[in-house]
Amino acid sequence: METAEIRRRFLDHFEKNGHTVVPSASLISPDPSLLFTVAGMVPFIPYLTGQQTPPWQRATSVQKCIRTQDIEEVGKTTRHGTFFQMNGNFSFGDYFKEGAIAHAWELVTGSISDGGFGFDPGSVWVTVFHDDDEAAALWKKVAGLPDERIQRRGLLDNYWHTGQPGPGGPCSEIYIDRGPQYGPDGGPVVDEDRFLEIWNLVFMQEQITDVKAKDDFVVVGELPSKNIDTGMGLERVAYLLQGVENLYEIDQVFPTLQKAAELAGTRYGADHGDDVRLRVVADHIRSSLMLIGDGVTPSNEGRGYVLRRLLRRSVRAMRLLGVQDRTLPELLPVSKDCMKAAYPDLESDFARISSVAYGEEDAFRRTLQTGTQIFDLAADETKSKALTALPGDTAFKLHDTYGFPIDLTLEMAAEQGLSVDEAGFRRLMTEQRERAKADAKAKKTGHADTGAYRELREAGPTPFTGYEGLETDSRVRGLLLDGVSVPGASEGETVEVVLDRTPFYAESGGQDSDAGVITGDGFELEVLDVQRPVKGLVVHKVRVLKGEVISGQEVAAKVDREWRIGACQAHSGTHIVHAALRQVLGPQALQSGSYNKPGYLRLDFAWGQALGAATRSEVEEVANLAIRRDHPVSATYMPLERARELGALALFGETYDEEVRVVEMAGSWSRELCGGTHVGHSSQVGLVTLTGESSVGAGSRRVEAFVGIEGFRYLATERALVSRLADLLKVQPDQLPERIERLVAQVRDAEKELSKVRASALGARAGELAASARDVYGVAFVGYEAPAGTAADDLRSLALDVRGRLGNEKPAVVAASGAGDTGRPSVVIAVNEPGREWGVKAGALVRVAAQTLGGGGGGKDDVAQGGGTDASKIGDALTAVEHAIGETVTRGS
Ligand code: SER
Repeated sequence: METAEIRRRFLDHFEKNGHTVVPSASLISPDPSLLFTVAGMVPFIPYLTGQQTPPWQRATSVQKCIRTQDIEEVGKTTRHGTFFQMNGNFSFGDYFKEGAIAHAWELVTGSISDGGFGFDPGSVWVTVFHDDDEAAALWKKVAGLPDERIQRRGLLDNYWHTGQPGPGGPCSEIYIDRGPQYGPDGGPVVDEDRFLEIWNLVFMQEQITDVKAKDDFVVVGELPSKNIDTGMGLERVAYLLQGVENLYEIDQVFPTLQKAAELAGTRYGADHGDDVRLRVVADHIRSSLMLIGDGVTPSNEGRGYVLRRLLRRSVRAMRLLGVQDRTLPELLPVSKDCMKAAYPDLESDFARISSVAYGEEDAFRRTLQTGTQIFDLAADETKSKALTALPGDTAFKLHDTYGFPIDLTLEMAAEQGLSVDEAGFRRLMTEQRERAKADAKAKKTGHADTGAYRELREAGPTPFTGYEGLETDSRVRGLLLDGVSVPGASEGETVEVVLDRTPFYAESGGQDSDAGVITGDGFELEVLDVQRPVKGLVVHKVRVLKGEVISGQEVAAKVDREWRIGACQAHSGTHIVHAALRQVLGPQALQSGSYNKPGYLRLDFAWGQALGAATRSEVEEVANLAIRRDHPVSATYMPLERARELGALALFGETYDEEVRVVEMAGSWSRELCGGTHVGHSSQVGLVTLTGESSVGAGSRRVEAFVGIEGFRYLATERALVSRLADLLKVQPDQLPERIERLVAQVRDAEKELSKVRASALGARAGELAASARDVYGVAFVGYEAPAGTAADDLRSLALDVRGRLGNEKPAVVAASGAGDTGRPSVVIAVNEPGREWGVKAGALVRVAAQTLGGGGGGKDDVAQGGGTDASKIGDALTAVEHAIGETVTRGS
């Protein structure tokens, strides 16, 4: 059955059952916390969490997905693909477990003639979450599955979430037994190659956060409704129904694989190593095609890096198959022809898609070429010295400068009968990583020698065009590498660029620098940081993403729009918080420093004490009212004198030019000298949420806040937390404080009660203990290990009580030790008068005991107290005390 037909049957089945067919969303995830769409449910996250009301209660889709965490597995197993399509049906508060199981069973085992997939019911196995008796019972009831084909698994396998905070739930997976020739019996818990998972039914019912691993996260509460999210692997079903061995052999992939084999002059199936490479090529080319189709372009970060890696891995795999020529112009059109029936845009957009892909192959070929020459020289040299291993620094240079993955170097070396000093390579990699970290720290300090900057500054200051627009045509005035002028820079290098004029805001006045790109003829630069190392000169720190940039070239400088919107919100938000603080606390609460970047601001101000909760709320309320009032935000240039007359706030210690820029909101409510970028109207800030207040030295406090959508997210997380607490304590949210106060009081009372009971139990033991005293060289000695949880005070009263009972007729020592509530051990020693006369001192004995317990202590001769860290040593400590008594007494006699 063709993949297109499987897809059609799936959608038909669910449409017939009342589901609305929703088209696939882009591979670029609509959810900002995810790089890619990793599952069919991603576009529906707001409906699952209740953030938005779904337009339908039932939906179905075939969603394009990318997952690259198992990229190394591609081609080696039957079922790992970086691009795949997920068939899904979704219920938002409509049917739940029973409906999901019934729909799935009907489609999987329904006959081909009735529109089903026709799998033999006897080949179906399922798994359920370990305590989900309900799902297990439903599989029996709805599908008549026998117990032995319903297996239970834990969080790792049968709980699903995206890996980010959001919705999650236990799941039930459907497997098809491919037969004994594919592996041992025993179901999916034994072998997941023979028993192939085709469909995952997720019972989405919880909101989770703090996701550290698949099985390590925190459930914060129930979702507003019980939902269904299912995902059927289209490629997996295709390879079962097409009677082929793996997903690289299905109709949407295999033609590309065959074309690659033809180019390489090999036959698929002849050699295992070659087969793996052919599968990598077919998989990666399809994924790249789909990613570029959705607008991703190769770069060194984020999505662009994933694409670059996929393309370079496929070009490299073709090289290893012996193909030296350009390969993408041969292979990409074949992949496009396989996919265009399902995604017609691939055809109409192919000119763009192919030029991006071919450009990347060409760039990689250039580095490969130079790299290969370097490799050959190094290999010859190694051999001429009669050595067998290529030096680690050569492998490192190939990696660092020419983008050679280490396994490429390893394979090239092996072809020449050489090995590689991998340990040396890894050491250099580690050193480089550490250097990069140190550089990142030093990045803001710049270079001590500003000579090169000054030379560039001589041609005049850099005009800033970024108040009016985000894009400017400009020219490269100069390039610097490590503070030294260079004529050009090429792909992979990080350099500093000075332009004739720039729309990029250089970090100043508390506002972080702008992000974006600078492009020109054949090159693309990513802007990492923007600073003004000497007055008037703007320097862009950039990484060359593509091509080569040369001084004097024309460029287009483009600030990232989203970044700048966030930056404006945060900076205007800072002025608003400043004004609100002064309104609430008084005009003396003047700002002394600030920092803001998209989504976040912090502001230090003159104030002597902590702000109470009520004051913080008031500041927040004043700030958000000002946002809501939609004040126009204006920026005007005026002489410094005039600005001072108007009372514009200037930062202490800053120097200003004669002509200054004044940013104003609601007249004199907020009027500051400021060069930053701002929103047009206060309402565009959206929201300011104070998150913290702390001291930063005497007379100075700091407030921190989230701004805009980040402010919203912060509140949403807090709300989820409150609702989780309310659920746990079974009260309405507004009753939480009272309920918690009551609980705390109850716990305190119970603890008091418990310690009374313990004290009286100990008191009752005193007589018994006194009677059990042993003779140690004439001294009556009681060593008592108290039960865990005994407070140090109780040990003390007990020791004194026992000492009293032993009287003063002969020397006596009482040592009592036990671990308190925290688990840390205490020890108390009491010595009677005749004991002290014999030279036995409580203080000295406590030091002996405490040392054994891993701590310290001391006290007077009659009673002393100490503690330690290791409660398992209490027995040893008491023995040590006994020895010490023996030693003291025998030495004295
Ligand atoms: N979200 C689940 C998965 O991706 C089911 O759609 O497996």
